Amino acid sequence: MRVLVTGGAGYIGSQMVRQLLENGIEAVVADSLENGHRAAVAPGVPLHVGDLSDADFLRALFAREAFDAVIHFAGYIAVKESVENPVKYFRNNIEATIRFIDAMHAANVTRLVFSSSAAVYGNPTQVPIPDDHPKQPINPYGESKYLVEKMLQWIGAATPLQSISLRYFNACGATLDGQFGEDHPDEGHIIPLALRAAMNGKPFNIFGADYNTRDGTCIRDYIHVIDLCAAHLCALNALLRGHATDAYNVGTGRGYSNREIGAAAQRVTGIPFAIQVAPRRAGDPDELVADSSRLQNEFGWQPKYSDLETIVTSAWQWHRTHPRGYGDR
Ligand SMILES: NC(=O)c1ccc[n+]([C@@H]2O[C@H](COP(=O)([O-])OP(=O)(O)OC[C@H]3O[C@@H](n4cnc5c(N)ncnc54)[C@H](O)[C@@H]3O)[C@@H](O)[C@H]2O)c1
Repeated sequence: MRVLVTGGAGYIGSQMVRQLLENGIEAVVADSLENGHRAAVAPGVPLHVGDLSDADFLRALFAREAFDAVIHFAGYIAVKESVENPVKYFRNNIEATIRFIDAMHAANVTRLVFSSSAAVYGNPTQVPIPDDHPKQPINPYGESKYLVEKMLQWIGAATPLQSISLRYFNACGATLDGQFGEDHPDEGHIIPLALRAAMNGKPFNIFGADYNTRDGTCIRDYIHVIDLCAAHLCALNALLRGHATDAYNVGTGRGYSNREIGAAAQRVTGIPFAIQVAPRRAGDPDELVADSSRLQNEFGWQPKYSDLETIVTSAWQWHRTHPRGYGDR
């Protein structure tokens, strides 16, 4: 079996490629490398460098290679930037995805796993959040993910293209050997930022301490990237068995506050870096914790590496040994 991984040079996509290979599945990567890294792509895996909004690139890609399925990670990911520049997000996350789906149709590829996000829920009225909770995104990033989910539902009803959207909560952690990890330009994720504070001696900023939560800081559900990729394998197998279009949460059901993450990073690194409160960032809901029981019950998926200790320890291994990330920026 051969799977096309868009965004496969990025943080989650590059881990996915490794997991596909470990499971005897051939992987091919398409990535613009705008935010990804050549060095993150597993050796021997074909990497096609190009933009998914480029119809010629897509035509050539699908003409050159045959795929049984696609896992579509490519997109922009920064909530704050999406609030400042919504068009950029709608263009890349929606318009480029439409072009990509056109190319899939033309090539008769009919199975797709899509990277959605907990951001589709906005400020939830029920936590843990079930899959059928109302979707009211509060930032353009979340809106872009929700609109693609909705498009995929309509497309699934009208065409052979069936998809599973996975709504990730906070992806985190690195390979357990600390060799491959998170290296986003303009990093906005809390665990890398806390670990950077441990390395560079600068204070770690918590954005807002007046949220409606147990200690006033935002609460998130942290899912180790290995567990997240395992959920994609479950979704892929379900589609191959004929599963119809659907969407599932991927999280642990347990939330940690920003202060708790800062404390875990201090504990794991053994470095008592300063923690300070900075102003809120636009578009951050109080608490996002997943109810993933449908994913667990229907696909038998269970998180195995998503305890905070394993997450922060693996991430620390990566950051401490790769202070410049993949070193290509
Ligand atoms: N990291 C998280 O916690 C998280 C949470 C929820 C959802 N997601 C979603 O998961 C996916 C992957 O996230 P990530 O953290 O690995 O991000 P990432 O930025 O590391 O990876 C995305 C990759 O897509 C590529 N890309 C972007 N636009 C492209 C385009 N038009 N054509 C070709 N390549 C393009 C980038 O170069 C990058 O390598 C994204 O869709 C993101 O929205 C991530």
